[in-house]
Amino acid sequence: MDRIYSAVEFQATCENLRIGGKTIGLVPTMGALHGGHQQLIVNARRECDVVVVSVFVNALQFDNPGDLEKYPRTIEKDIEFAQTHGVDLVFTPDPEEMHPQPVLFHLEVDRLANILEGASRPGHFSGVVTVVSKLFILAGKCRAYFGEKDFQQVAVISRMVEEMHFPVEIVPVPIVREGTGLALSSRNMRLDSEQLVAAAALSRSLYAARDAVRNGEMDPGKIEVLMQRELGREINGIAKSNQPVLDYAVVVDPRTLLKPERIEGPVRLLLAAWVGEVRLIDNIAAQADR
Ligand code: PAF
Repeated sequence: MDRIYSAVEFQATCENLRIGGKTIGLVPTMGALHGGHQQLIVNARRECDVVVVSVFVNALQFDNPGDLEKYPRTIEKDIEFAQTHGVDLVFTPDPEEMHPQPVLFHLEVDRLANILEGASRPGHFSGVVTVVSKLFILAGKCRAYFGEKDFQQVAVISRMVEEMHFPVEIVPVPIVREGTGLALSSRNMRLDSEQLVAAAALSRSLYAARDAVRNGEMDPGKIEVLMQRELGREINGIAKSNQPVLDYAVVVDPRTLLKPERIEGPVRLLLAAWVGEVRLIDNIAAQADR
């Protein structure tokens, strides 16, 4: 497995691979690699000749300096992980390499980015699309793999590719979950054992809401209330400070991310909550059983 630090070298390497007839599967990450990333790598491995993983903690997408500081950084383990899972190339630029200082340019995103995660984390998606567009410019024509846990991120990036004509095919990959239902996330590393138990409440409330939709509930407002109620249910044996605290629970159209008037087709249920000092997100697809 090769490791590249330089943006120019990464770009030239990808270009040469394509000239040599190889297809490229790009897995952009911020490191702290886990089973969710493994699934992205597996899919890329299956569909592309060369699998490239980028590891870069992108300061531009953190609205909260404390969150950036605490974001897990495990680069040596990540390199080992990538090697073990058959990655061909890792791109691990320094911050200065990715964002030469002072940063004078960044992309802005309209409507799609001011709601949900964007409302709770101002500037987040501007930071995401700025770094992802740089990665796409460097990698060139490729397939790029993103986990559906960050459902809004996939929607924003897919729209960016369409609108900005990047020669990139976005491949969304389903969420990978622990046995408890907890969606795998690098942030889970910051949860202690009690908080890990508490965090399973997110998926429990999504499952309950999905079942209600399956059983014919068509009122999105009622589904949202159900998710709020399920998440707010006190969990036995868990300290008050570790009980999940809801940020938002919403029903959206999976394409527009807007709330439908009635649930008449496929919808996505999205949830964000705090467990201790860690903010977690999760989501699930839902549709009425016909
Ligand atoms: O999903 C992530 O890990 C990040 O938002 C991404 C896409 C690598 C951009 O920094």
